[in-house]
Amino acid sequence: MKGKDFVTGLEADALDLDELLALSLQLKEEQKKGVETQPLKNMSIAVIFEKPSTRTRVSFEVGLAQMGAHPVVLSGRDMQLGRGETIEDTGRVLARYCDAIVIRTFAQDKLEALAQAAAVPVVNALSDLYHPCQALADMLTIRERRGGLAGLKLAYFGDGNNVCHSLLIAAATAGMNMTVACPDGYQPDPKVIAIANRLAEESGAEIAVTEDASAAADKADALYTDVWVSMGQEAEKDARLTALSPYRIDEAILATAKADALVMHCLPAHRGEEITGAVLDGPNSVIFDQAENRLHAQKALMVTLMEQRGGR
Ligand code: CP
Repeated sequence: MKGKDFVTGLEADALDLDELLALSLQLKEEQKKGVETQPLKNMSIAVIFEKPSTRTRVSFEVGLAQMGAHPVVLSGRDMQLGRGETIEDTGRVLARYCDAIVIRTFAQDKLEALAQAAAVPVVNALSDLYHPCQALADMLTIRERRGGLAGLKLAYFGDGNNVCHSLLIAAATAGMNMTVACPDGYQPDPKVIAIANRLAEESGAEIAVTEDASAAADKADALYTDVWVSMGQEAEKDARLTALSPYRIDEAILATAKADALVMHCLPAHRGEEITGAVLDGPNSVIFDQAENRLHAQKALMVTLMEQRGGR
């Protein structure tokens, strides 16, 4: 992979992504069989949260412990970071104690400044712009069910947010076609669309953005959505619910996709808003597999990053 970090998802080219997913599947299988491997034995890894988390926090903490590492889980507000210490100084200091830093924060610039300052790998556990660990788990989930990624159609509905951005990058890298259905004002960042289009030119994927939810769902292999009101957007709640309501994944949208289409959501979900309860809990849903796959995909990512550095 390019560089020491995983902060945008662009560090993994098509071959890296393929290898990461293959290793994720291997680690998942080994765990199910009870095979114990500790490739990160004696390592200490800082895991910082400046926003709430359930899946990311627990999957990193458990995954790192399973691989023999000591996860040092920190809340931003309990650190000097929360009292004005710079992100660069925080990174320089943590790199003196820890073998890697995983961070969930707000600005992508802050995360990249941390990666620049810290001498150890830095991993994006969600920023306002990207959620690349989620996209790894999502690609793993689709690959498990479909045996591959290239040529499939992923349709994303709703807010063109950080999850959507990372899916665009991962899909375009893997040669998977992706259509984003969203209303005016909620499109993905044009810079991310441009990056995805550049990647798609190399992989042969097709990337599209439309206001037509039915066209997006047409013959799709997977339907994906995320909450409409993300952390920090509570003041916009009413406007968001109104604008995004035509993009709910419901039985009618599901009927437009392939009969065996996968229904996906990164969670947490609001049943009745971005997805109906019947679809979320229905037979096409792989949503809880996605949540589990955070564990396996992140284990593969951390092993790969640490091996790339030649271990300790
Ligand atoms: N999908 C996801 O990142 O979940 P958490 O916010 O609970 O970590």
